[in-house]
Amino acid sequence: MKKNILITGGAGFIGSHVVRLFVNKYPEYHIINLDALTYAGNLENLKDIDSKPNYTFVKGDITDMNFIHDLFKEFQFDGVLHLAAESHVDRSISDPMAFITTNIIGTVNLLNAAREIWKDSFETKRFYHISTDEVYGSLGETGKFLETTPYDPRSPYSASKASSDHLVRAYFHTYKMPVILSNCSNNYGANQFPEKLIPLVINNIKNSKPLPIYGKGENVRDWLFVEDHALAIDLIYHKGRIGETYNIGGNNEWANIDLVRKLCDIMDKKMAQEIGTSQKLITFVKDRAGHDLRYAIDATKIKNELGWEPSIQFEEGFEQTIDWYLNNTEWLENILSGDYEKYYEQQYEKR
Ligand code: NAD
Ligand code: DAU
Repeated sequence: MKKNILITGGAGFIGSHVVRLFVNKYPEYHIINLDALTYAGNLENLKDIDSKPNYTFVKGDITDMNFIHDLFKEFQFDGVLHLAAESHVDRSISDPMAFITTNIIGTVNLLNAAREIWKDSFETKRFYHISTDEVYGSLGETGKFLETTPYDPRSPYSASKASSDHLVRAYFHTYKMPVILSNCSNNYGANQFPEKLIPLVINNIKNSKPLPIYGKGENVRDWLFVEDHALAIDLIYHKGRIGETYNIGGNNEWANIDLVRKLCDIMDKKMAQEIGTSQKLITFVKDRAGHDLRYAIDATKIKNELGWEPSIQFEEGFEQTIDWYLNNTEWLENILSGDYEKYYEQQYEKR
């Protein structure tokens, strides 16, 4: 009999890469993708695998306790990979409540359902919670986040993710739930919603629109190719130790302004325009409230224990990502024609 594996948030950016990897690599699993299809969920991300016999999509909301309980009862999941979340920091600043309900209550609903349905079989199960490096707060110019770094979340998004991490660990200690966690740095790649820095800049360059850089563009992020994150998730799910946390990062720090300048130059070449054309669009705007200065991950633990390292060099992954956005205009246009335009106006008109 196939193992039933629940992946939440599988229609989103990272979730869709994880679903694709699992569906293709593990025909012996039946992958159930549970997603509420919020503004960030998009089944177009999975159209290449949606008719596979070991894949089922279920539209549903993790904040609905009874629905989640019934789903666990129906499918008797062998394992859970939990990625569903509200994920954009700027949206958490303007509307924190959606982050509290989905990221905290939604996670507890999943934990409670697993606890109840799995109560006599914890030893054969796994609840894997996918989290972010933002829970550790902001670094100065030196140092990196370790798994032991104290939590210091500073945005409603990161506070809601930190809260969910604490609850997952509490269920491990209190109820002996078989949990495992990972905290990853910034991902980039195909299918990322264009509210996030890299696809937003690509889209604006294409349309000769200003490129909004918060503050002075000095904030630093550690960028990882999304398919490398999916491979790390696969390894942790299968080989990671119960009760443990693994940090995942790209060892690839960029100040926002340097990253955007590089992106501009590559785009100029690809669009056959004079180098420097896109950089002229760079516009410094009002900073993000509470903007964390720097994130950087120390990924020694996952390397030593599980042998994971990023496999794609940044130059290659970045180029591949830009090409994907240039070749998938329909995907982008479909998003831009929805509520996104309204969000963009509200987010950027006052800056
Ligand atoms: P995303 O916003 O692209 O996708 C989130 C998905 O969750 C969407 O498909 C959405 O429809 C679904 N969803 C939202 N609320 C839901 C609900 N109440 N019920 C069911 N489904 C719901 O996010 P992402 O960037 O792919 O991030 C996925 C996970 O990885 C999140 O938990 C995030 O915190 C974490 N993470 C993201 C990054 C990153 O750089 N993007 C880095 C580290 C960790
Ligand atoms: O570190 C992991 C996190 O990375 C994930 O947990 C989040 O879900 C994900 O959204 C991402 O958070 P960031 O806030 O770092 O990503 P974002 O793409 O929104 O911004 C990247 C940097 O670029 C950040 O310093 C803010 C800046 N920025 C962003 C936007 C959208 C700008 O300067 N201008 C912009 O218009």
